[in-house]
Amino acid sequence: KLKLGVLISGRGSNLQALIDACAAPDFPAEIALVLSNKADAFGLERAAKAGIPTAVVSHRDFPGDKAAFETAMDAQLRQAGVQLVCLAGFMRLLSPLFVSLWHDALINIHPSLLPSFKGLDTHERALQAGVRFHGCTVHYVRVEMDVGPIVAQAAVPVLPDDDAHSLADRVLESEHALYPHAVRLIAEGRAHVDGERVRIDGAATVPPSVLN
Ligand code: GAR
Repeated sequence: KLKLGVLISGRGSNLQALIDACAAPDFPAEIALVLSNKADAFGLERAAKAGIPTAVVSHRDFPGDKAAFETAMDAQLRQAGVQLVCLAGFMRLLSPLFVSLWHDALINIHPSLLPSFKGLDTHERALQAGVRFHGCTVHYVRVEMDVGPIVAQAAVPVLPDDDAHSLADRVLESEHALYPHAVRLIAEGRAHVDGERVRIDGAATVPPSVLN
């Protein structure tokens, strides 16, 4: 099975979706380490409850030295035998150092249909823009924020009475289906980075409401 390292900063609901997916015997990946930059991240409790090793590398222990922070994270991940790093609500920007150490072995989930709405407050901005569809994206990480070859996307409708909360809830539910789906594609060796795109082999088994 492909060994995952999941990086979190908080709630960890996407981590939970990955934990639940990995509990199925036929899932082709397992979580070797959950790594948080915050000691009080709720996701750490989710991991502990599932019997998954955890580590905390706090950016505050490395003031002004991002390279040292990232080197410490990298050491934890290598020690755990991690093969694919999954960002799941990890809220620190990674520098070119870390991105190059994990080139094509580092993915992120972002709460919009990229390349629309990079950055924060995606749901507010989607409502403001009046888009009729919104969603989420799993992509390989490149140095530029929220840019990189797209593995999979899921679209949800924007409904007339939505506010940022109701829209965020609908997107989050789609994230929980999409992330395990994307990890499965990679773990099965069916996702191939080809320049700035990802080619997917075979007909993907797509969870309901997840568009590949
Ligand atoms: C998710 O919506 C994720 O897409 C988003 O943060 C949330 C984390 O929730 N990520 C980003 O905005 C990355 N820039 P979770 O901790 O419950 O998985």
